[in-house]
Amino acid sequence: MYDPKVEGIKLESRDETARVLSIHPVQGEYWLLRAHAPFLAGNAQPGQYVHIRVPGLEASALRRPFSIYGCEGEALEILFKVVGRGSAALSRVQEGDVLQILGPLGNGFPLPKEKAAYPVCVAGGYGVAPFHFFASRVSAGSVLIGGRTAGDILCADSFPDGRWRVGIATEDGSKGTKGLVTRLLKTELETYGSAAVIYACGPDGMLRAVGEMAASFGCTAWLSLDKHMVCGVGACLACVQKIRLADGTERLLRVCKEGPVFEASEIVW
Ligand SMILES: Cc1cc2nc3c(=O)[nH]c(=O)nc-3n(C[C@H](O)[C@H](O)[C@H](O)COP(=O)(O)OP(=O)(O)OC[C@H]3O[C@@H](n4cnc5c(N)ncnc54)[C@H](O)[C@@H]3O)c2cc1C
Ligand code: FES
Repeated sequence: MYDPKVEGIKLESRDETARVLSIHPVQGEYWLLRAHAPFLAGNAQPGQYVHIRVPGLEASALRRPFSIYGCEGEALEILFKVVGRGSAALSRVQEGDVLQILGPLGNGFPLPKEKAAYPVCVAGGYGVAPFHFFASRVSAGSVLIGGRTAGDILCADSFPDGRWRVGIATEDGSKGTKGLVTRLLKTELETYGSAAVIYACGPDGMLRAVGEMAASFGCTAWLSLDKHMVCGVGACLACVQKIRLADGTERLLRVCKEGPVFEASEIVW
């Protein structure tokens, strides 16, 4: 299990009062929000997330979790899809509005340590968000983006040119290769073999398939789980996932606290 503290990475989180710098639609139901949040932007690690108290939802007192898409100077960026009440309300905030943003939360992705390791990131839909941040910290790799249709392929041209190779797959063939993103992954793994270290974020079905493919090629795969969260700080147990520990025993761990990133072979689906 990846615990950044063991690696000497100090994690600290705060409930920061952040001012919205800009918000605009990216495509379809997807939005990009930038907020002035110096603490969060200065302390976040790729793969961590924030828990946002959405204005207008105070009565329910619930926050919504979003991956960190980018940190530029003192600005924090979030890429989000409108799927329900909270994300719809978030899409209505305006420049100058104030948000309470708790974070950075979770363990994040372990960055590749060995020079020979080749990162292959696999994203489904808004699962591309953490890899934009990841690519700003890791010099080169491949990012494979999958979606049902062209409208779900986000930010493909935002990865550093020449250093990051981008592959696209859509189920309906409207952009890139027709089929599932794991089709692209298989080609990458045939090229890089066990030198590939896989990082994935997306729906459970995709994560599970990525984990199985990683095992068949003898690769390590780090999967970021997308679980419904309530408290986001390890108190309510709404987000538990069964994980196989190093000694072979199985335990329910909190995705918000011990995750959201777990090694594929530890996850008991
Ligand atoms: C660690 C983490 C990182 C995330 N990062 C992003 C991100 O970068 N961008 C982004 O757009 N979304 C992200 N999400 C998902 C996002 O948190 C939910 O879409 C959001 O909370 C939905 O809130 P809502 O009030 O709009 O929808 P609700 O009204 O609560 O729900 C609307 C619909 O969305 C479904 N839903 C709610 N939460 C989730 C979830 N976690 N996963 C899948 N379906 C869900 C519900 O079952 C329902 O069908 C992330 C979730 C987690 C746990
Ligand atoms: S969301 Fe409450 S324990 Fe994880």
